[in-house]
Amino acid sequence: MVRSKYFTKAQEFDGMPKLTDFKIIDEEIDDNLKEGEVVGEALCASVDPFIRAYPVPPGAPIIGFQVLKVTKSMNKKYPVGCKVMGFSGWRTICKLSDADVWYKVNEGQNPTVSLGALGMPGMTAYCGFLDICKPQAGETVMVNGCAGAVGNLVGQIAKIKGCKVIGCCGSDEKVKFAKSLGFDQVFNYKTCKFYPKTLKELAPDGIDCFFDNVGGQLSSDIMGCMNKGGRIAVCGAITSYNSKQPPMATMVQGLMVFKLLTMRGFLVQQYKDKFPEALVEMQQWIKEGKIKIHETPSSGFENIPRSFIDMLSGGNIGKAVVVMS
Ligand SMILES: NC(=O)c1ccc[n+]([C@@H]2O[C@H](COP(=O)([O-])OP(=O)(O)OC[C@H]3O[C@@H](n4cnc5c(N)ncnc54)[C@H](OP(=O)(O)O)[C@@H]3O)[C@@H](O)[C@H]2O)c1
Repeated sequence: MVRSKYFTKAQEFDGMPKLTDFKIIDEEIDDNLKEGEVVGEALCASVDPFIRAYPVPPGAPIIGFQVLKVTKSMNKKYPVGCKVMGFSGWRTICKLSDADVWYKVNEGQNPTVSLGALGMPGMTAYCGFLDICKPQAGETVMVNGCAGAVGNLVGQIAKIKGCKVIGCCGSDEKVKFAKSLGFDQVFNYKTCKFYPKTLKELAPDGIDCFFDNVGGQLSSDIMGCMNKGGRIAVCGAITSYNSKQPPMATMVQGLMVFKLLTMRGFLVQQYKDKFPEALVEMQQWIKEGKIKIHETPSSGFENIPRSFIDMLSGGNIGKAVVVMS
């Protein structure tokens, strides 16, 4: 048996999560392993919006990704000493089945990168954007939440594909950050007075691809500026996750018809078969300096909920990660 700690949901979230919504539980893990299982010690944890969006009941473990160092193994793919990225929840030590492990982290690679560009957000940006938006060189791409974990990568991938990239995000510091990554135009949606006017000025030739992380009125306004045949990848709807009332937005069906738009939602897991090739290409782009990594780190297992709330409040630039020690 090994001693471990994990976070549970102490009570149902009510609007923006609070520190008192989380509780640490001590547990003893039976480390007698079945074929395919490993035990790992967490090195770093990821805080992601889906943790807020999924209906996990009070009392249940918080769901989430971590990078773990394998300390005991009954899985030939993941020997003792290697690092893995897995769906572990927020736990100091945990037992993972073969299905819980997403992949082995490359030797020598910074583990936090496996929670960002070479982790779930990176796979989301690469697979969702390229498959659904099908960006062509010379086209205009719009990304909201553009300074966040997924959004900043979508913008950088769109630049690699030869597109003009427009982003929006929630602070002037984030605007500066996105521009430093090569975004052509970026605006702060919190200080922008009238989205349609700003969008027309920044995208005078219209928008061909829209990667939507946010939803709400701004997304409807972006769709109003799209060109005929435009493609929209619906990645998330963070504007609604902490809302007590469903946010209102202008209906889009009419313009979808007349502009012949395609709008498709996706879940990153549906692309699991594509992860190996996506990881190779993302790694190559990082090596060539075409994709830059930016993280908002914090430290300490106990501080994971604080980092999570900070991310939902817009406190992160790039990927929000928590390093254990
Ligand atoms: N479909 C999938 O498989 C999949 C996978 C991963 C992520 N996602 C989705 O992708 C989106 C981005 O995730 P991420 O991990 O990259 O998070 P992130 O952008 O790194 O962090 C969340 C950001 O959302 C913004 N935000 C928070 N509340 C908002 C609101 N009410 N309106 C507008 N923006 C708000 C904040 O940035 P600002 O300061 O700019 O407001 C905050 O920094 C989320 O919707 C998430 O659920 C989907």
